[in-house]
Amino acid sequence: MPKHDVLVIGAGLAGQRAALAAAEQGTSVGIISKVHPVRSHSNAAQGGINAALNPEDSWESHAFDTIKGSDYLGDQDAIEIMCREAPGELLDLEHLGVTFHRNEEGRLGTRAFGGASAARTYYVADITGQAILHVLYEQLMKFSEVHRYEEWFTTALVQDEDGRIAGAITRNIRDGAIELFQAKAVILATGGNGQLYDPTTNALICTGDGIAMAYRIGAPLMDMEMIQYHPTTLAGLGLLITEGARGEGAHLYNAQGERFMEKYAPNKMELASRDVVSRAEQTEINEGRGFPDGTVALDITVVPRKRIHEALREIVNVGRDFAGVDITREPIHIKPGNHYTMGGIRTDVDGRTSIPGLYAAGECACVSVHGGNRLGANSLLDTLVFGRRSGLHAAEAVHGLPLRDPDLAQLEDEERRISGIVDRDGSGRRVSEVKAELGKTMDKYVAVFRDEDGLRTGLDAVQRLKEEATDLAIDDKGAVFNQDVLGALELQFMLDNAEAIVLSAIERKESRGAQFRTDFPERNDDDWLKHINVSANGSEPEISYSDVTMTQWEPQERTY
Ligand code: FUM
Repeated sequence: MPKHDVLVIGAGLAGQRAALAAAEQGTSVGIISKVHPVRSHSNAAQGGINAALNPEDSWESHAFDTIKGSDYLGDQDAIEIMCREAPGELLDLEHLGVTFHRNEEGRLGTRAFGGASAARTYYVADITGQAILHVLYEQLMKFSEVHRYEEWFTTALVQDEDGRIAGAITRNIRDGAIELFQAKAVILATGGNGQLYDPTTNALICTGDGIAMAYRIGAPLMDMEMIQYHPTTLAGLGLLITEGARGEGAHLYNAQGERFMEKYAPNKMELASRDVVSRAEQTEINEGRGFPDGTVALDITVVPRKRIHEALREIVNVGRDFAGVDITREPIHIKPGNHYTMGGIRTDVDGRTSIPGLYAAGECACVSVHGGNRLGANSLLDTLVFGRRSGLHAAEAVHGLPLRDPDLAQLEDEERRISGIVDRDGSGRRVSEVKAELGKTMDKYVAVFRDEDGLRTGLDAVQRLKEEATDLAIDDKGAVFNQDVLGALELQFMLDNAEAIVLSAIERKESRGAQFRTDFPERNDDDWLKHINVSANGSEPEISYSDVTMTQWEPQERTY
């Protein structure tokens, strides 16, 4: 039985930053990932990371932009911490070796991003996540106390008889062996759940595993209705065209050649916050001013070609390879598409969840710094600041504590559950079929615009699919790289996430941030300036509320 003081599940930016912080305290750390760590979804983060580093900028301005961007649902104490700590985090990364863009004077250079009152996004071309991920991985390799478990899939969390976290149950993807990892603290850093939408910008691995595992042992999920649709994704495929393109000056046009953002956000235009731009595009499309393929156009040709090749080279490749478009010469068709989970496992500012010894950081967590709508380039920041804080807190909290004895019955139950999936006779639906129906359902009913009837139709479908997912057809009975069984386990995680999302969206009877209810089109601070939590512990989901923490910024009307 592998034993560690701190076990980190997920090896994207939040997980690696947490592991590094814990290892620097001399703590024994295990870091588990279902893929090789540098293939984590953080790899796909293109545009950059925000920090108010420039002397003319301030953390207060960054915090205010973030709070306004969140439509006042973000917790202001957590946002203050994130924005105050951003410059230090950025400089640490640069000192570790991240090759951030430098301007002509040789200083760290910025680009503009949506919803921000200053250009404070630091970047490495349009591969910022990849650049940071590789540097952190390299740093982790320096520590002999850090054990990496690559291609292990965690299926459940384990508690002791007092309910304190005691470890996790994991299946080795290479040979199917099931192992109980014992730990004094567990940090979930498993990322978001975008795969329960189709299409999505998210990698195939983003199946909400940690969110569902925490939920299953009773941790509340918060703000789950807040699902971000990114304004510029490729139709059908969902591939991301970075907001950095608009930051560099690209324009949006409808099929009539109108720069339509003039109507919706006359001051910030294409650089309004993402919920505003996505709604504007969807309105143009719904009202017949889009192109026949259900898109609008992003014109990057207004950016000098040299600059495109320097700063946006990845999307030059994406445009050419996946849309057959040379973005330096012609506009590319885009539409809003699923991108980010603003909600997640409720945590405090040190990553602690309601379960003793269980932490969460990054996209699977809800601190909550994004509230109703995340600003572009605040997600990398969130992963790093709260990954570090979680790793540090967990390492200090477990110092001198004994390992907990896990309740071994949980391991037996999990082995039985997984064998039950492997042994199925093949009479039910296939994983891919159920997943495709889930994705289309969510994209139809729980998208940019929502209403009670659609959400209820969505909920019925999700609950039916949950039932069907208890009897999936499994063809592959083997132990080695069994993607069929892995897919079934992931699908069940996704369905738990989906149910929490739809229930929360039905509950919130107002429009705020990414939740736009056509039947309740106004924001209603009197009744709904509060977080919605969903909890379950082996029983039916239950809804509760918690207060939004305010420090110095009173809610105002939100215009761009
Ligand atoms: O558009 C982008 O580059 C995405 C950035 C983000 O989600 O923060």
